[in-house]
Amino acid sequence: MCGIVGYIGNKQACEIILKGLKRLEYRGYDSAGVALLNGDLRVYKKQGKVLDLEESLEGKNIEGTIGMGHTRWATHGEPNDKNAHPHQSPTGDLSVIHNGIIENYATLKEGLLQRGHTFKSDTDTEVLIHLIEDIMKNANLSLQDAVRAALGQVVGAYAIVILSKNHPEHVIAARKGSPLVVGIGKERGEFFLASDATPIVEYTNQVIYIKDGEIAIIENKELTIKTIDNVIQTPYIQELEMNLEQLEKGGYPHFMLKEIYEQPKSIFDSFRGRIDAKSGNINMRSVRDYQEKLSKVNRLILIGCGTSWHAGLVAEYLFEDLARVPVEVEYASEFRYRNPVIYPDDLIVSISQSGETADTLAAMELAKQKGATVFGVCNVVGSSIPRLSHGGAYTHAGPEIGVASTKAFTAQVTVLTLYALAMAKQRETLSSSRIKQLMKEMEAIPGKVEQALKLNDKIYKIAELYKDAKNFLYLGRGYNFPVALEGALKLKEISYIHAEGYPAAEMKHGPIALIDEEMPVVVIATNNEHYEKLVSNIQEVKARKGKVIAIVTEGNTGLNELADHIIEVPETENCLSPILNTIPLQLLSYHIAVMRECNVDQPRNLAKSVTVE
Ligand code: G6P
Repeated sequence: MCGIVGYIGNKQACEIILKGLKRLEYRGYDSAGVALLNGDLRVYKKQGKVLDLEESLEGKNIEGTIGMGHTRWATHGEPNDKNAHPHQSPTGDLSVIHNGIIENYATLKEGLLQRGHTFKSDTDTEVLIHLIEDIMKNANLSLQDAVRAALGQVVGAYAIVILSKNHPEHVIAARKGSPLVVGIGKERGEFFLASDATPIVEYTNQVIYIKDGEIAIIENKELTIKTIDNVIQTPYIQELEMNLEQLEKGGYPHFMLKEIYEQPKSIFDSFRGRIDAKSGNINMRSVRDYQEKLSKVNRLILIGCGTSWHAGLVAEYLFEDLARVPVEVEYASEFRYRNPVIYPDDLIVSISQSGETADTLAAMELAKQKGATVFGVCNVVGSSIPRLSHGGAYTHAGPEIGVASTKAFTAQVTVLTLYALAMAKQRETLSSSRIKQLMKEMEAIPGKVEQALKLNDKIYKIAELYKDAKNFLYLGRGYNFPVALEGALKLKEISYIHAEGYPAAEMKHGPIALIDEEMPVVVIATNNEHYEKLVSNIQEVKARKGKVIAIVTEGNTGLNELADHIIEVPETENCLSPILNTIPLQLLSYHIAVMRECNVDQPRNLAKSVTVE
């Protein structure tokens, strides 16, 4: 939610900032702005995309080697020019960009109003910069001390960057609850600041992830990291794993399509080196380190939001079926607010692409406070969730830029399958030969995904027929019920068509009332023990004139007469079928959204990383 970029060095800052903001647009894109420090402090901001801001800068003075920029996802105040960041202090000496929410802004604002402040925007952020200047003036504090004092009064979450007209060569940034990375440039005194490493990777691979409660001060070409209580910290410099190529579209029209097509590789990368189908061994550090815990765990609680929650639902079937461990799957936002019962022998697994989802982080903190062991299954290396976890595994899917999650989902399901196999091995709920067989099939999945991607042309034609539908229903059973949910979510996220995912048998208890000749129903009917039941469900849809798009196992001709469209995916083990069956649903939603001229990579109102509650 909201992307922030800062630069200080010898290069022109504006170009670096605009480029960085474009990379961060997945975090929010309703307005954007820059502030440039070059003797004076110039602020430019604009409603709309970063491109609109860039166009509005034509002919303006954008000189300056120090600057910062922001791309917004509105929380307080509607998206317009005045609510766009950066925000300025009353004298115009100070400017701030902010990602997060200042929860007690109304109280702070009230105090400032009583002291004669007037505000130009409806945002919580403007209150903060007024407060800092107010403290500087009334308590006669330096900028740094005033920032610390102001942050001491703030309740909520923030990543901020501050520039001051009276402090040239000086940048202050701070973090609590919202991500912030510092990049160390190649020239002495050059530093980058950003919400994540994507704007930085082009310039350096040396980064420092700022921790909660820390302030980064760049002054006289040096970086100092302090706590909010003014205690100097030793920075931990890390090397970035990502490269620039991963952040480009690579010839695809959209990141989403590129990421769909990357899945043979991303799935492979998520199990590469971790399974050995010959010995049946699992080579994962968390499995080694927590061997005893994993073999004694009484219950797993899987938490996540959005698509990550769907990966958790698939994993519920995996863990219960393969390892015979009871599982609960929870929306992080519900879990954290309902005083959950957590036992010391529970294992909590947080699932997250970004590693920064505010609700998931808060749910993990709660579980830790209650004494539980917490694992993270996360894609973004170095993000907050893995840092907060006791153990866990990265999904290694590579950067996912499209707001609708695709390759991160299949990688999450893959990694969770590895954990289920590891637990099945430890608990001896599967024979060693069955484990090896499943591992062998796992190794075949990237090739089968490759085959499923060849369905693209067929799916395009189906998309043409249903692109104007008002509603869609997705049905699945067992392992493929969560796939139905994920298929429906993908469609509504990017095409704005209302879609619902349902366990096929539940259709009779409600959604069947919606079915008429206008209703496309996507049914996941691949070979498994539920197949015959699904055929009956398809009969029920057809009896009411619904249009059936059936996903079936290659070679199955049983539905040729009944379904309106057949999509054949390669045969696989039932427990691995969610990975494969998701692919055609991703392609269907992608093509429908493109045909409806929707912004596939940046759907309205959504953000990739939800760092507010
Ligand atoms: C947002 C994104 C979704 C994502 C969800 C959870 O809603 O748009 O694609 O599934 O957040 O994010 P996480 O990064 O925790 O997986």
